[in-house]
Amino acid sequence: MSSLLVDNIGELVTNGAGEGPLGIRRNAAVLVEEGRVVWVGPSAYAPAADRRLDAGGAAVLPGFVDSHAHLVFAGDRAAEFAARMAGQPYTGGGIRTTVGATRAATDNELRATVRRLRGEALRQGTTTMEIKSGYGLTVADEARSLRIAAESSTETTFLGAHVVPAEYADRPDDYVSLVCGPMLAAATPYAKWVDVFCERGAFDVDHARAILACGQAAGLGVRIHANQLGPGAGVRLGVELDAASVDHCTHLSDADVDALAGTARSDGSGTRTVATLLPGAEFSTRSPYPDARRLLDAGVTVALATDCNPGSSYTSSMPFCVALAVREMRMTPAEAVWAATAGGARALRRDDIGVLTPGARADLVVLDAPSYLHLAYRPGVPLIRQVMRNGVTP
Ligand code: NIG
Ligand code: FE
Repeated sequence: MSSLLVDNIGELVTNGAGEGPLGIRRNAAVLVEEGRVVWVGPSAYAPAADRRLDAGGAAVLPGFVDSHAHLVFAGDRAAEFAARMAGQPYTGGGIRTTVGATRAATDNELRATVRRLRGEALRQGTTTMEIKSGYGLTVADEARSLRIAAESSTETTFLGAHVVPAEYADRPDDYVSLVCGPMLAAATPYAKWVDVFCERGAFDVDHARAILACGQAAGLGVRIHANQLGPGAGVRLGVELDAASVDHCTHLSDADVDALAGTARSDGSGTRTVATLLPGAEFSTRSPYPDARRLLDAGVTVALATDCNPGSSYTSSMPFCVALAVREMRMTPAEAVWAATAGGARALRRDDIGVLTPGARADLVVLDAPSYLHLAYRPGVPLIRQVMRNGVTP
């Protein structure tokens, strides 16, 4: 069994035992065996290992966990982005443009896009990335989207209820039946989660409840796009169905925040349902950012994710989202880094990632910086010096 010691770490973010909310250890080392962390402690007392990776006094943190991304698509919508920057509002209507391009694409074209974006994210420190379907919207196209997604991630999400496709525009009930019936059956072998875009212009709360309940009955975990473009009952529906995560949360009422806070875990470690905030979407649609402080102050567990998609947020960069969350959403750098690592893990109901403690997966990043603070302090700078995933440096 080969072991690897990452030592000479100036600042180690463990998200476990240590200083402050990030469980920081200084002058630390991490011992890795068979893809797992087996020991964390002072560099001076590190056990011997077969190989050594000298962090040179830099900061090391858990790899980012991007718990919300739409990578299976074709084409781009740069012109739509330019029109928005010239004053057009975002309505989600462009989703149908991407559906057309995705249906027309070959498997290999879709696969190449997923791999390109997954690789791009990995180089920016993302060691786990959730991938949704949702631009196929036929039984065959949703199944192949998930099949291709599953080649790059175990965290795959069936989003057949992204919008009602044009051919069902005047009979949405029939589309919901399709999603709950043959489409779900074709998706389930490749999916771990079910998601619905619950919003005016997409699916109302009754349709969303029906689809999520079918997915749940088929063994999938629940997540939901809710309260992105306006207020609504989506967040409360997520809580009702024990969703792992309610995503976007841009327009929240007091009742929504109370409902999320009401999912508090008995051990005091935050909430069962996580609020996943996607500041790349507000950036790229020039919309007001969600109120992260209000959620954090109410005790709600917050995650940050990219929402990487060709319409509302074409970024794969978790460091960019961390910087946005700090500058625009009044999260502290520590809150933002926690939300982008351990928070994302919680949004996927995982406890083996997002932390660097014995037993966790050896997924980590070495920064080209002495502290995690630099992720927000030096926005737009490529600070990821090295990435390790499952104990391997790709
Ligand atoms: O999460 N809101 C719904 N879905 C995506 C946007 C998809 C698109 O515009 O293509 C989102 O922002
Ligand atoms: Fe999304």
